[in-house]
Amino acid sequence: MDKQLDLKNIVLIGRTFDEYYRMFALDDVLKNETILDVASGVSSFCAEANAKGYNVTASDKIYTCAPSEIGQKCASDLDTVIKQLPDIADLYVWDYFKDIQSLKAQREKAYKSFIEDFKKHGRRRYVPVEYPAADFAHDQFTISLVSHFLFLYEDRLDYSFHRRTVLELLRITSKEIRVFPIVNLKGKRSSLVEPLMYDTDFQPFQISIKKVGYEFMKGANEMLVIKK
Ligand SMILES: C[S@@+](CC[C@H](N)C(=O)[O-])C[C@H]1O[C@@H](n2cnc3c(N)ncnc32)[C@H](O)[C@@H]1O
Repeated sequence: MDKQLDLKNIVLIGRTFDEYYRMFALDDVLKNETILDVASGVSSFCAEANAKGYNVTASDKIYTCAPSEIGQKCASDLDTVIKQLPDIADLYVWDYFKDIQSLKAQREKAYKSFIEDFKKHGRRRYVPVEYPAADFAHDQFTISLVSHFLFLYEDRLDYSFHRRTVLELLRITSKEIRVFPIVNLKGKRSSLVEPLMYDTDFQPFQISIKKVGYEFMKGANEMLVIKK
């Protein structure tokens, strides 16, 4: 059987601005865009990006919880992941992070920055949303970014969930949706990518796969881009 992280639920693990910048090739995204971070969880992208002058709103179902509750859950999820990593270390490329300890330190830094920002800006910046439905207005954002949510968890989020979530993102986003990665937890291209690319509901849109300059899980170095 292929090795993979053994997770009971979708984990509360957060990435940094620098990782998002590389995963989504953000060099062509200007500061006047209005960006939605979809299922942003405890990532520090929203906090760091806003501090740099970008306009980012974060959205996740956990934002109904108190910061202290989120802090406890993500410390425990990080522990679960870090404990499993020595046995599956060969599924990852160790150059962005040089070892498990530096990965752990980065992930802790990300979630602590998130918690501070969440305490400061609350639900004005961190909006509780349970996809596939969101309360945002039509075309409220110009670009939506989906990191480590769709495709990765194909074993628990089925095609219907993916389809409905992408349709909702197309409703609330005026220009473009980017999704990274497009592999499952085994590091294999998700079986939901092709059905989505050829679904007649998405025919009016331009859908492509682009290689990016970030690869931590081996083989996870592409994003899906949907243009309106
Ligand atoms: C692995 S984390 C990714 C966090 C962030 N995007 C990143 O890459 O650092 C997955 C996130 O998906 C969120 N999530 C799971 N199901 C969701 C749903 N139906 N609606 C909104 N968020 C959801 C979880 O709460 C969690 O924060």
